[in-house]
Amino acid sequence: MHLERPSLKWEAEHIAYMQEWDEDRMTPSSFHLKEDIPYEVYLEELAAKEARHGNRVPNTNYFLVDDDERIIGMVNIRHSLNDYLLQVDGHIGYGIRPSERRKGYATYLLSEALKVTDQVGIRSVLVTCNEDNIGSAAVIINNGGVEDASFTEPHGNVVRRFWIER
Ligand SMILES: CC(C)(COP(=O)(O)OP(=O)(O)OC[C@H]1O[C@@H](n2cnc3c(N)ncnc32)[C@H](O)[C@@H]1OP(=O)(O)O)[C@@H](O)C(=O)NCCC(=O)NCCS
Repeated sequence: MHLERPSLKWEAEHIAYMQEWDEDRMTPSSFHLKEDIPYEVYLEELAAKEARHGNRVPNTNYFLVDDDERIIGMVNIRHSLNDYLLQVDGHIGYGIRPSERRKGYATYLLSEALKVTDQVGIRSVLVTCNEDNIGSAAVIINNGGVEDASFTEPHGNVVRRFWIER
């Protein structure tokens, strides 16, 4: 199992992965495909968003792929923090396809993502989750997350914030 960068090769797998999420809001949102946009164009737009787009910071996206070339999860790694990321989203956002949850894959995915933040040179990695996301909190703690103060968004959502020191 390893990380792979999005490319044309993954189009069918990416579509199948997304369909598994049904009405759920797929996480990270950078992997959301729109029906009327060709995959080539999606990849071009993703590359532009990775470089810098509006108020986004530079970031990279990876699939977590198993030995059968099946996409198991997806991760978006932000290379720095702006005010919003510092309070709400942190450095790393991830998701695991619904049929593959509770098998340790997110714990593994975050550990692989931390190797990427190491390469970027980030020493203190912020990873967050909503207060009710017990699974994600366990994933972060499994990877050495130490909890900091929570942040309450204007609409009342409470975000738990953890630092992982490298
Ligand atoms: C949260 C999510 C990433 C967890 O993925 P996963 O592959 O199931 O996580 P793991 O198998 O590595 O589980 C890690 C731990 O959390 C526990 N856990 C996972 N899901 C859980 C749940 N729904 N309720 C309670 N515990 C849960 C596991 O039992 C495991 O515990 P352990 O370390 O004590 O054995 C996955 O449910 C998901 O993609 N959810 C939707 C998107 C999302 O919430 N992303 C995170 C945004 S912050």
